[in-house]
Parts: sequence; structure tokens; C-alpha cells
Amino acid sequence: MTPLWWQRGVIYQIYPRSFQDSNGDGIGDLNGIAQRLDHLVDLGVDAIWVSPIYPSPMKDFGYDVADYCGVDARFGTLADLDALIAAAHEYRLKVLLDLVPNHSSDQHPWFIESRSSRDNPKRDWYLWRDPGPEGGPPNNWISDFGGSAWEWDEATGQYYYHAFLKEQPDLNWRNPELREAIYAAMRFWFDRGIDGFRIDVLWHMVKHADFPDNPPNPAYTPAMGEMHRVLQLHSTDQPEVHGIAAEMRAVADAYPERVLIGEIYLPVERLMHYYGGEAPEMHLPFNFQLIDAPWEARSLAKLIADYEAALPPGGWPNWVLGNHDRPRVAAKLGEAQARVAAMLLLTVRGTPTIYYGDEIGLADVLIPPEMVQDPRELREPGLGLNRDPVRTPMPWDDRAHAGFSTNTPWLPLNDDWGDRNVAGQSGDPHSMLSLYRALLKVRRDHPALEVGDFLPVECEGDVLAYERRHGKERLLVALNLGAAEQQLLLSDDCGACQPLLSTIGTHDRTLGRGVKLAPNEGLILKLE
Ligand code: GLC
Ligand code: CA
Repeated sequence: MTPLWWQRGVIYQIYPRSFQDSNGDGIGDLNGIAQRLDHLVDLGVDAIWVSPIYPSPMKDFGYDVADYCGVDARFGTLADLDALIAAAHEYRLKVLLDLVPNHSSDQHPWFIESRSSRDNPKRDWYLWRDPGPEGGPPNNWISDFGGSAWEWDEATGQYYYHAFLKEQPDLNWRNPELREAIYAAMRFWFDRGIDGFRIDVLWHMVKHADFPDNPPNPAYTPAMGEMHRVLQLHSTDQPEVHGIAAEMRAVADAYPERVLIGEIYLPVERLMHYYGGEAPEMHLPFNFQLIDAPWEARSLAKLIADYEAALPPGGWPNWVLGNHDRPRVAAKLGEAQARVAAMLLLTVRGTPTIYYGDEIGLADVLIPPEMVQDPRELREPGLGLNRDPVRTPMPWDDRAHAGFSTNTPWLPLNDDWGDRNVAGQSGDPHSMLSLYRALLKVRRDHPALEVGDFLPVECEGDVLAYERRHGKERLLVALNLGAAEQQLLLSDDCGACQPLLSTIGTHDRTLGRGVKLAPNEGLILKLE
């Protein structure tokens, strides 16, 4: 079968508030993205996923949607989005939007109606419940942002459920009209040329019909954040979610080559169900394992092997190093290993998603307490849950405000923006950006990397190695995850093997059957 674009391609996530500001208000916008498409073409990615741009009170920075078919004035207009789609398509870049179907904003007209009276036709579009038997909330469910997940509504004398902020009431996916309304929104965007959606918190979408208490989490400590006090047994990952995911897929499949990517934080064996059973569901249930994995060769080799083994027939793999909710890879690993991680991301089998800024090695930015924006941090301060550090403006060059804006940006820039910016790294062959560009080029030039088979190579110590094969083409990827020199013994005589790319520059130590990896070196070697 001919691989589809989202199987061959590389996705790039844009957090629109922080990519490029075009009108000097310190907030990134759609015209800003359009101005920076050159960067994405030079980088060599195939698609952009743009975090929410819909009208929103911005309590959770766009993940509180007040209109599923519009554009927030802060980001521009619908015409700006149409222009961005057209410009991106001209550059052969696909455009994915973020669909947020689990909850809306409390300012969405649907919720305003729903809360207006108990017999309003939209009452059942949200999750309303009477108080528990002893008064108080209907059960012990906790918001992912801390505190009870139930909010009392004085006017109608019931509680409504919100998995996140109280300004983000959960929609009732057991209601067929609500389902149709969201599917209509999907079609609205598909008809405008959108190539797919990343679907927010897909595994949250259906709750147990009887709302039983969640069991306590025996491993809970307050430092984890209050949401972990209970296990989300009845509030997430319910069997009925799969029917919905399949319906969404059917909506997408009515259009040619659209893609659906599900945000799902679950253990691998649960995650795999989201590819679908009898009916297909997500093309790509996001595989977040690399984000939390200890950076250790043997356990990573096992993690990759287990993931490969768990994939259902026809299930296409995917990999991610970070996103707008999780610490950045360069903060976790440091620059040298972040380079090795980039090589892993772009050579392991499956669709990679790159988080904006990772291509220049952006790390987490220290946010002074008085500048905190993230509602999660504001609700549970000091636990290290702040997401602002990974959402800071993209530094483009060494002009004022790093070329991101003509004004003070909504979040501070990285301290080292004077050196660490796109223009500065563009001309430096040893920069992270040059490495990303080279990796993407090697990938494009070698079908073995884009779509080839994956064969683990047995090795020891800090080395993680695998082969990618397509037809006659055989590439070896050898990654040194440690800071000491390593030896890798090959089964082939590699006298004539050609090093295609090294994360440390020139590699010239492959002799016969031995590959010497320098400290922190990642290497792609052409075997045949
Ligand atoms: C997802 C988003 C996150 C948001 C949450 C609630 O996890 O990635 O940013 O806060 O959903 O919508
Ligand atoms: Ca702006």
C-alpha cells in the first residue's frame, strides 16, 4: 500500500500565542504564522498542528472554546485563517486544527442556554447532577486542575461537571444532538480545507453513566497535584468513548486523506484501543511515552520494542518529545542529549511531531511568580506544574523582542534569546536548527526512515541502536545516550559503510565491524 502523507510526513506543533505576533499586541496570531511559513519549509516539515484559535475567554488559553466555528479576534479573522490554509497549501504544508470536544467554555451559547433552566432544550448537552446524598458534590471526582470537579449552580439548584476549570464545563457525549453539533463543526473545517484535527483529551469524553466515586490512589502524595488523589477509573477511558471516536473517524473519512490524532494519556495497552476495533478510530493515538521515559538506553529499547509489539495490525506508530503541557526535552536532557533525542524522534518508525522551539533547543523558561499565566499553576502553585515555561515566544532573531513582536510579549523570552534564535542558528552548521534540518533531509531522502521496517539491534550499555530497512536500503541508527565513548559491534563488515549524519558533526570512526560512538553521539550509517 502507498503510504499516506501523515505516515511519511513530519508534524510541527504551533502554540499560536507564541509563534509570531503580526500586529504588535504581544500575542502571536494567524497572520504571524503565515509570515513564518518559510521557516517551516526550510526546516522540512510536512504539516502544522495549530493549538486552538477559536473564540475563547482564554481562561485556559483557547482550550475553553466559545464558538467551534470561528476565530478569536486576538488571533485574527476567519479570512486570515482561510488565507493561512491557502498559503500553507501552496507550500505543500498540511494544516491541522485542535478540536476540543470534551468541554466548551462556560461562555459558549450552548452552556449559557443549558444553565438558564432545568427544562432548557440544551440542559442535557452538559452534565448536570443533584447534590450527593449528604449534600455537597454528587461524587468525589477531582478536576485535573485541582479541587472538586463539580460546580454548584445556584439558579437551577444542580451541580455541573468540569474535568478542568469551572469555566470549562464538560459536554454530554451521550446526547445525540450534541454529538451531531460537534460533527457539524468538524465538517465546517474540513470543508474549508483543514487536513485534520488533533483531538483534545479524547479519553475523557465519556463518563460512567452512574457517576460512582473514583477509588483513592494509594500512591498519592500532595506533590503530585490534587487530581492524583483518586484514580480516574470512572471518569475517563469508558468503553463508550470508542463508539464516539469511530463516529468522528467516519466524519473524517468522508473527506480524502484527512487525519485524526487523539490526545490520550494512558498506558500503552489501553492506548492501542484508540486505533479502533471493528471500526477504525484515531489514525494516530498520540504516543507520549518518550516524554516521561527515563533517558536510559536499555529501558528505551524495551519501551520501543513493547510499543511496536502492542500496535494492532495496520496501526501506524507515532512519537513525540514534548508539547505545550509538558517540560521541554532540552530542559530534561540538556543540549547534547536533546540532539540525540532529535535523532531518535526523526528516525524511529512512525510519524514524529516536533514541538515549536525544540528545533532551536529551547529549554523551559523561568517565569517569575508575578508573571504566571497558566491557570493550572495559579490554582496549585509551587508543585512544578506550570506550563508557561514551555509556551514562551519563539525567538526569531536578535532584534528587540527577538523579532516575535514589536511589543512586550505575553510571556517572557528565553534569557539566551540573543544567541538562541532562528536567524542565529540558521547560519551555524553546528546548531540544533542545522541538525534538525539535516535530520529532516536525511529522512526525506531515505524511504527506509520514512516508511521502512524497524529492526532492533542488540547492544549494551548506553547504546541504543536499530536498523531501518526498505527494499535494498538499510540504515543503521546508533545512539550513545551517555557521556562516555562507546563501541558497537556490527554483524556486517562495515568497511565501506557511509556515515550519513552525526549529531556531533563529522563521524570517521567506523572500521570493519566496529562503530565507535563519541560521547553523546547519535549516528546514522548507511549499510547498503
Ligand atoms: C489538553 C490540553 C491542555 C488543556 C486541557 C484542557 O490536555 O493539551 O492544554 O489545558 O486539555 O482542555
Ligand atoms: Ca497579535
